[in-house]
Amino acid sequence: MSAHAPSRRAAAPGGSLTTGQRRLVRDALRRAPDDRLAAAFGQIAGYSFAVAAVTGIALLPFFRPSMAAVVYHGSYAEFDGVSMSQAFRSVLAISFDVKGGLLLRQVHHWSADVFVAAVCLRLLRTFFRARFVGRARRDWLIWVTLLPLGMLVAYTGTILPDDGLSGGSLSVITGVLLSVPLIGTHLVSWIFGGAPPGHDIIGRDYWVHIVVLPAAAGALLLLSSRSSLHGLAPRWPAPRQPHRVRPAPLLLFTCGALVLLGTIAQIDPVWLIGPSQPGSISSGAAPDWYMGFLDGALRIMPAWEVPVAGHPLSLSVLIPGLVVPALFFTGLALYPVADRWLVGERPPHGLLPPASAGPANRVAAGAAGVTFYGLLWAASANDQLAYHLHLDLYTVTWSFRVLVLAGPALAFLIARVVCHALAGRRRDEELHGRETGRIVMNSRGGYTEIREPVRRAAPPSAAPAARTTGPERRPAS
Ligand code: HEM
Repeated sequence: MSAHAPSRRAAAPGGSLTTGQRRLVRDALRRAPDDRLAAAFGQIAGYSFAVAAVTGIALLPFFRPSMAAVVYHGSYAEFDGVSMSQAFRSVLAISFDVKGGLLLRQVHHWSADVFVAAVCLRLLRTFFRARFVGRARRDWLIWVTLLPLGMLVAYTGTILPDDGLSGGSLSVITGVLLSVPLIGTHLVSWIFGGAPPGHDIIGRDYWVHIVVLPAAAGALLLLSSRSSLHGLAPRWPAPRQPHRVRPAPLLLFTCGALVLLGTIAQIDPVWLIGPSQPGSISSGAAPDWYMGFLDGALRIMPAWEVPVAGHPLSLSVLIPGLVVPALFFTGLALYPVADRWLVGERPPHGLLPPASAGPANRVAAGAAGVTFYGLLWAASANDQLAYHLHLDLYTVTWSFRVLVLAGPALAFLIARVVCHALAGRRRDEELHGRETGRIVMNSRGGYTEIREPVRRAAPPSAAPAARTTGPERRPAS
């Protein structure tokens, strides 16, 4: 179906819209430019963020953002007499001594993981529905920004406990920052307050984590469309009639799921990892799921280093640590611009994006992006895959190098072929009806298959009448 078909059908003879049709278009434009599933993912993201903020505030009185060394003599006997930072000791105390502390920590951590997952799902849904045109462009940009921002809020949170994984993350950040040409060393000493890890980073990270980033993410969530966050965003003007406030079902679902996860699914057991020790990292260490694709990129990048004006330029870290995420997120943000060129058709002026505007290329581009992300993500488990499948680590790493380059192109081609085949079948059904498999003999002794009329839901911007085709008999092939 052409992108222009719906608008043509909505127009009255002579090209102008009738009053009813004009109202239809106006209502469609007034509606939030997304669909119910995208709105549901948006709400889940908003509610998980709210749970993270509430549990985070509840953790504040017990957490000490200090790297000052102390000797542990607490209820976790395994670490008796071990030197650690105040931050790590306070997290052990939250986990073992504060009533409900471990549950709070786990719910806080799970809400971070669910938040980023919900943002990803919303973006995926919006992408494949092409809800990023016109008024929806602003919303798309907000949610694209929320993805790295959410990852950053959560990442700065995982650094706070000052455990072995936190130390590992700090080492990775140090390496990535050092790879920035010219200003890398200055950046590191500015962020860490001297040579890393130093004594300030947890205290600095604390304020970034509890104030700066949540404020930015919260502001973006509130800015986002009312439809996806109508439980959180303020509504102006305020309703005059007092009405009963009923908790939104998704709010209950999200809170219930997070509390359940926090209760039964262990996450970040810092006591099994131990305090951070500069220069050491535990084996089998894995980041939270949302950092997986960056970790994978770092793992499979060849150790390339080129000398530039007498200085080494470490491409092995610069490319996966900064260039890949920068290209990925910029590509996502700018995709709506590329979409016009890729899809080749523009939605009718002033209307919401049509249901289908030659979407095969868009679906193929989405499949390529998902494959790229998924393969990098899987590559972050290269050591685990090699270990469990009894393979050579370098074979696994090399396979991922090839797959990450070839996989997206292959996914693009396959998705395009499948989309065209589906569109062809759909066109055939609309023209001739759906195949029933019932073959009958006609009066001349030939065979024909009985076709059933097809009823399809009208696209959002189309005229209300559903498209129906009459029954038809075609010679059976
Ligand atoms: C007002 C907002 C927030 C406050 C006051 C806050 C506070 C805290 C505190 C005190 C910790 C250290 C306690 C600990 O590690 O056990 C922490 C850790 C953490 N925070 Fe937050 N946080 C806030 C928002 C968020 C948000 C929005 C996210 C993610 C979307 C997040 C993700 C995390 C994570 C993943 C950890 C590590 C938890 C762990 O130890 O396993 N926080 N946060």
